[in-house]
Amino acid sequence: MSETLLAGKRLAVFDAYGTLFDVHSAVQRHAGAVGPEAGPLSEAWRTKQLEYSWVYGLMGRYRSFWSLTEAALDYALARHPGVDRRLRGRLLDAYRDLDAYPEVPATLDALRARGLATAILSNGDTAMLERAVASAGLGRHLDATLSVDPAGTFKTSPAAYAIPCDRFGIGREAVLFASSNRWDIAGATAFGFTTAWVNRMGAPDEYADLPPGRVIGSLDALLAPA
Ligand code: LAC
Repeated sequence: MSETLLAGKRLAVFDAYGTLFDVHSAVQRHAGAVGPEAGPLSEAWRTKQLEYSWVYGLMGRYRSFWSLTEAALDYALARHPGVDRRLRGRLLDAYRDLDAYPEVPATLDALRARGLATAILSNGDTAMLERAVASAGLGRHLDATLSVDPAGTFKTSPAAYAIPCDRFGIGREAVLFASSNRWDIAGATAFGFTTAWVNRMGAPDEYADLPPGRVIGSLDALLAPA
């Protein structure tokens, strides 16, 4: 068992978008209608969504992550004029109901069987998170779905990572945090969580001064022998 990661942990916290939910499944669902620019469109959508969160967060002008998701899609469509703009509504609908990665429910249950509570901590606002959790059928596998919304800013602000500690009344040393986003792992490591970077695509490492506790290829590896 991966005792070095799970030992002494009481709460497993997961990033949502890209970690539990496949953010590219929205465009993939309409790949035929989107056409050959589907991949770059999806990448631009995600990249701008994240950029907007950091820019507005640093300005102290918090906006709902859904509004940033809409603005990012508008930019991505403008950047890729070959894609039919009339797909906007269908793409946003698909983003509301993203696919969860297949190993997610069993991994959450296995962590609970090991005595850990399970939670999401996401930049997503509460409404979009609750919809995503419900449509993916994850509600009964999670003890809490937490938005950064009460902090009025986004990850990687320490105020965001403090939310699950406050909610569960536990110290940061009792939290295992998993994210596919390397920037999020950097923020969580800086905050003091034990971290697991879900590097599904074999991306190169970065933020060398803030390394993950472990690098895994999929979430079920959280339970695998070290
Ligand atoms: C999340 C996104 C930003 O916080 O990955 O869920």
